[in-house]
Amino acid sequence: MAIWVGGIIIVVFFGHRGWVRANDNDPVAQMVKQMSIEEKIGQMILVEKNSIQTKDIARKHIGAILSGGGGNPADNSPKGWRRMIAEFQANALNTAQQIPILYGVDAVHGTANVRGAVVFPHNIGLGATGDVSLVERVAMITAEEMKATGQNWNFAPMLSIPTDLRWGRVFESYSEDPEQVSRMGAATVRGLVKGRILATPKHFIGEGLETWGSSRPYKLDQGDIALSKKHILDRDLPAFRAAIDAGAMSIMVSRSSIGNKKIIANHDLLTTVLKEEMGFQGFLVSDWAGVDLLSGDIYENVIAAVNAGVDMIMVPGDYDKLTNNLVYAIQNKDITVERIDDAVTRILRAKQSIGLIGPSPAIADVPLQVVGSSEHRAVAREAVRKSLVLLKNDAVLPIPPRSTLLVVGRGADDIGLQCGGWTIDWQGSSGAITDGTTMLNGLQKKFLDHVIQYYPEATSREEPQADIGIVVIAEQPYAEGVGDTETLVPSATDYRNIEFAKHNSKKVIVIVLTGRPLQMSDIVPGVQGLVVAWLPGSEGDGIAEVLSGDYNFQGRLPFSWPDGANDLLFPFHFGLEYSQN
Ligand code: BGC
Ligand code: BGC
Repeated sequence: MAIWVGGIIIVVFFGHRGWVRANDNDPVAQMVKQMSIEEKIGQMILVEKNSIQTKDIARKHIGAILSGGGGNPADNSPKGWRRMIAEFQANALNTAQQIPILYGVDAVHGTANVRGAVVFPHNIGLGATGDVSLVERVAMITAEEMKATGQNWNFAPMLSIPTDLRWGRVFESYSEDPEQVSRMGAATVRGLVKGRILATPKHFIGEGLETWGSSRPYKLDQGDIALSKKHILDRDLPAFRAAIDAGAMSIMVSRSSIGNKKIIANHDLLTTVLKEEMGFQGFLVSDWAGVDLLSGDIYENVIAAVNAGVDMIMVPGDYDKLTNNLVYAIQNKDITVERIDDAVTRILRAKQSIGLIGPSPAIADVPLQVVGSSEHRAVAREAVRKSLVLLKNDAVLPIPPRSTLLVVGRGADDIGLQCGGWTIDWQGSSGAITDGTTMLNGLQKKFLDHVIQYYPEATSREEPQADIGIVVIAEQPYAEGVGDTETLVPSATDYRNIEFAKHNSKKVIVIVLTGRPLQMSDIVPGVQGLVVAWLPGSEGDGIAEVLSGDYNFQGRLPFSWPDGANDLLFPFHFGLEYSQN
């Protein structure tokens, strides 16, 4: 079909339904025309950085590299990251096509693999703020810190709407409310797109709806969804639509299945629904080793995924085997050249959308000093303050200025516990794993040193009586299916700490650092104050700023807070403020 526009004839080729359009004036279309099969396949491969031989980037035309959780350079500093990625880019540009690579990371609460980067509250805390424009600013700052390190692709936002709180990824979700997930997911995409970072809504689709016990070795993560397609689409599609409208140009496909059929091989969902009916023009990337979860051999699996609509494969390790099988599949006509061209066109369009195709440099010129800057930390502290939810207050908060305080629990003085999973390491860990302030640091800024006694754990000694005991309960960090947990209860140590505080102070406030609601009905009646701080990240002093009364509480529960299977301790959207007492 030819269109007459201002004296130029533009020829538009409409491919099969669901395939992206190309026209002759388009640099992407020109590139695809000139590329060899090997060059095209290279664009479809996403390799983990610890598995890549640097010389293979040019030799095998590799189009994308990722750091998984904890896939950090030996020098884990902003500078170390920038140097590593710059070397990968230099190799990618040392080719005929000179196409920069995508460098992907899970910057799911700031670019938190990087030591020294600002770490924001995990999504569940952002959900509690209810502040969509704050969420967009958080994403813009994340984009800025990513660019300084050379990263250009974020595997975020997660758009799952969990119904089972035992799942290890609840904290990566904004809310149990689909509309809230849509609004916040779109805000994150907008912030990343403004910052010229490729956003990746994930994981398509139905995640969080899996049946408990349907997955091995995990329980729910990557399991099976026993619900109708209609139910799943009605609930989950709006958030993906909002993210696409906000400019998302890649989407990650879930490793779960529906009715025991893996979504990664589901042509109907990936191609008919997402690409044809919704008109998604970007590319679909499979999740970590997702193709290996299909039931065939590697040859059959790669055919099934690509023909279903997967455009890029997160290998992540043995890329030779995968590349060879893809070449073979094309030679055998088990995958058509048209399907490959469509995949590569989508990938190059996404690269073009963040300025990687054309005259701009492969690594944006953002100074390293922005990483973890005080301006960025101030926004994270604002997010912490707004994310706190006050669940109970029997005239104990705000803490009067001259009170003596007894602070109990390791979580009060531990950046790692504040940050949770996906921080420096995949699973996160306790300890001083990155820069920031703890909740105790914040209290020390607000209250004179001599009025605070701090005990990481309860002791059996008699202690001087304090006016107020502050007990911090903290979940151990976890990520993904590793965090699938049958019973969500505080630990024996937490209970001991509470008893110790009750014994040694007049009133007790419990602060909970957690990725999901815990069962606490036996604790609540015996204490005067209860605050949930979620996984606040690197700026723990934001908590003291609210406890002291400098700021009011404004957070609301993004998930209903159950107690046992059937009872509700606090309803969805519950949250007190000082003025209400
Ligand atoms: C997770 C994804 C993540 C990817 C890369 C997978 O295991 O499910 O959410 O983006 O790893 O780290
Ligand atoms: C990586 C994660 C990835 C996980 C999948 C880990 O080794 O660091 O990013 O999601 O493996 O199992």
